Amino acid sequence: MDLQPPLLALNRGGFILAISHKEKGMSYVLSSKDLLGLKDISKEEIELILSTAEAMKEILFRDIKKVPTLRGKSMVCLFYEPSTRTRTSFELAGKYLSADTVNISTSTSSVVKGESLRDTGRTIEAMGIDLVVIRHSCAGAPHMLAQEISASVINAGDGMHEHPTQALLDMFTIKEKKGRIEGLEVAIIGDILHSRVARSNIWGLKKMGANIRICGPMPLIPPNISDLGVRVCSSVEEAVEGADVVNVLRIQRERQDKGFFPSLREYAKIYGIDKEKLKGAKEDVLVIHPGPVNRGVEITSEVIESSCAAIEEQVTNGVAVRMALMYLLLQGGAKNEAAD
Ligand code: CP
Repeated sequence: MDLQPPLLALNRGGFILAISHKEKGMSYVLSSKDLLGLKDISKEEIELILSTAEAMKEILFRDIKKVPTLRGKSMVCLFYEPSTRTRTSFELAGKYLSADTVNISTSTSSVVKGESLRDTGRTIEAMGIDLVVIRHSCAGAPHMLAQEISASVINAGDGMHEHPTQALLDMFTIKEKKGRIEGLEVAIIGDILHSRVARSNIWGLKKMGANIRICGPMPLIPPNISDLGVRVCSSVEEAVEGADVVNVLRIQRERQDKGFFPSLREYAKIYGIDKEKLKGAKEDVLVIHPGPVNRGVEITSEVIESSCAAIEEQVTNGVAVRMALMYLLLQGGAKNEAAD
């Protein structure tokens, strides 16, 4: 596939250079000190993050994965919920950019003694940190923290609300594989109701000009979801018909307080993505999944291991996207470094 050349690249010090004359008029800064969600950022900001991630990805394939870009900056990962991908990729992204990184495990911190999020935030800010990456079970927790502290805050998932960096890495993967996002038909399948990944994907993909269809058990489809400009389909086959991309969601069993479908076996039969259900999609359909995967429930091993799936590449791209965000928030972009 013919991919567009990158708009941005890194100089020897790990700072971004504009390498396309067309992009000289582009802003190289984000409008906020924080990244809290995709609902409130512009298409141009999403494009800037994706272009910067493209430049950052090159670092991941070097023998020595280290640039001095964020030397002297420090970040804390503050996760009130479990995570493998998001927390590890933020930590590695910080290390690859030479930031000092610290993980706080809430189960071994003063949170278990009853310390509030506000006080925990102020305490770590008093130690001089520049960035807090937070995951919390309550929607809006990152927004509250961002108002309390002057350090930057990145939302790594807040309840059922948003998971913006997941959606950004999903869009990065789509753009990398398809060469564009605008005009693509994207099917999002599964537990939409509890999915912060679905919400951030819908905000982001709509801004980038994709058309979105969704499908899942009716109790897991939020009322009024079509107000967001998505088409609700009554079967997986209808949702997948002619799709360029199928984004399969994890069943969020930890957020389901009642039975939303009779059994996992029945869910797998009706909504699980297998080779048969993908037959109506475009021949070169791309299948993505945020992980962790419930193999054999929402997606079969055969699809996961097939060439149409990019689930491991999503993980790699997650590091590049998070490096880009940290760079843009902490270094302020390349406003003064754009090449002639
Ligand atoms: N996709 C995602 O957020 O995975 P983790 O829960 O492992 O971070």
